[in-house]
Amino acid sequence: MPPMDADIARILIHRNDIQRRVRELGLRIAADYDALGGDMTIVSILAGSLIFLADLLREMPSKKLKIGLVQVSSYREESVPGTPETLLRLTGDVARRHVLLVDDILDSGGTLRRVQHMVRQAGAASLRTAVLLRKPGKAPPDVPAEYVGFDIEDAFVVGYGLDYADYYRNFPHIAVLRPGMMR
Ligand code: IMP
Ligand code: MG
Repeated sequence: MPPMDADIARILIHRNDIQRRVRELGLRIAADYDALGGDMTIVSILAGSLIFLADLLREMPSKKLKIGLVQVSSYREESVPGTPETLLRLTGDVARRHVLLVDDILDSGGTLRRVQHMVRQAGAASLRTAVLLRKPGKAPPDVPAEYVGFDIEDAFVVGYGLDYADYYRNFPHIAVLRPGMMR
């Protein structure tokens, strides 16, 4: 068995299902932003959204848009969402543009709340948020996500960009780690 596979307890969402869903989201987002008019900037939150972002972009090949990035420091305990973290910086052209924020997962919403605030402060003409995953019941009403790939159970997941201690981002499926792999 390949070394990384041994760490995985079960696959929650297979890469084929992710691909199909990301294609749907990409088509819908491109159509919605066409209807909105004006200029579009996609702002992606590093590093968890990297693979989602890349696949989403490939599904909107004729959309004229700019890319920005937000880096969030990760000194917090990675498996304990909601513990403190610090925003580092926002790059990209946001002022007076229609911004789509892209993140891997909406969990407690702490991260997205801060980045949504940051993008509004930077003068975005409008703001919507796309997340690949959402843990139901935990996402607060003041942190909206207009585009959601999958609602999942309340488990810590890795793969397709999501990490534990910066590992497993390259695992192609969304998966749950074996008990004992997280400490
Ligand atoms: P929130 O601030 O609690 O919503 O957490 C959002 C951030 O925590 C995401 O951008 C992820 O980087 C990380 N995160 C939350 N839940 C998970 C998970 O189940 N697996 C991996 N990373 C997670
Ligand atoms: Mg992360």
